[in-house]
Amino acid sequence: MSSQNIYILGIESSCDDTAAAVICNGKILSNVIASQKIHEEYGGVVPELASRAHQQNIVPVVAQALKKAGIEQSQLHAIAFTRGPGLMGSLLVGTSFAKSMAYGLNIPLIDVNHMQAHILAHFIDEEGYEKPIFPFLGMTISGGHTQIVRVDDYFKMEVIGETIDDAVGEAYDKSGKILGLGYPAGPEIDKRAKLGNPKAYQFTKPKVGGLNFSFSGFKTAVLYFIQREVKANPNFITENLNDICASIQYTIIGILIDKLKLATKETEIKHIAIGGGVSANSGIRQALKDGEKKFGWTTYVPKFEFTTDNAAMIAIVGYLKYLEDDFAESNVMASARLKI
Ligand code: KG4
Ligand code: ZN
Repeated sequence: MSSQNIYILGIESSCDDTAAAVICNGKILSNVIASQKIHEEYGGVVPELASRAHQQNIVPVVAQALKKAGIEQSQLHAIAFTRGPGLMGSLLVGTSFAKSMAYGLNIPLIDVNHMQAHILAHFIDEEGYEKPIFPFLGMTISGGHTQIVRVDDYFKMEVIGETIDDAVGEAYDKSGKILGLGYPAGPEIDKRAKLGNPKAYQFTKPKVGGLNFSFSGFKTAVLYFIQREVKANPNFITENLNDICASIQYTIIGILIDKLKLATKETEIKHIAIGGGVSANSGIRQALKDGEKKFGWTTYVPKFEFTTDNAAMIAIVGYLKYLEDDFAESNVMASARLKI
């Protein structure tokens, strides 16, 4: 391989974060993200508002990523962008921008699957970070995704389990909404869970076969439970908030760990790499650590900025595809339901 420096720009716009990053070979030079605050007052992402905000943010975010990386756009070798899955209006902004820029610079365009990128984020070169070895299980847990993926090579992956309704982050956020917490509620539930009793209240775990997940019934169970308790004591939530949060968190983590146990048993793969915003959760991190001792797992948790939606993960996939001359056609289209 030549010792030439390969510079790739990655662009991510699948949901409510407009992000751009520059990677040189496997190392991230810049990782810029503009998160959209506008959705907080609605308690969830409003697609129409998201695409408008991407439109406003994309040029300054890309300019900043190049500036922070200390390179000119003329030095770029390729542009990688998120093709899907995600919100169509959001994806179109990043796709159109990436196409125009690649066309203007006369360099290759590389389409990236957002879900593959969450998993391949583990291959970003970071001092002190040990990359997973193949085969491993990737578990992507966020506000938009809940998947277990068998990963045999960079581009040889298979989804072996996923949610049939809500994502795990939604279970946090919707439970938070019922409790009157702000959006997104995951971080606050996590914080309060540490102060409460995880066994104070019981929520039944959903019965979904195999490696699939379901969280919509869980949210309803929380709703009915709270409605019932508040009827008897209007101050129930404020008086017991930490215990409620701890019990919610305990149940959710139990669901995730049960499925991981089953997945490691079925595949006989004990290396587990997690990604997505919920991987910030202190309880899941502890449960994975415990799994190392109890079940002989080896677990990988990347730096937080590479685990929530970001463009560094798009850039690393861009680099891996660049090495394989795997480029997109100029008529490539955004795909809201793109599969792994
Ligand atoms: O990956 P991400 O930033 O965006 C996508 O949804 O794709 O994930 C955001 C999700 C939200 O649902 C948020 O509540 C959840 O991650 N989250 C957490 C924690 N930090 C973020 N959930 C539980 N515990 C946390 N500490
Ligand atoms: Zn994501």
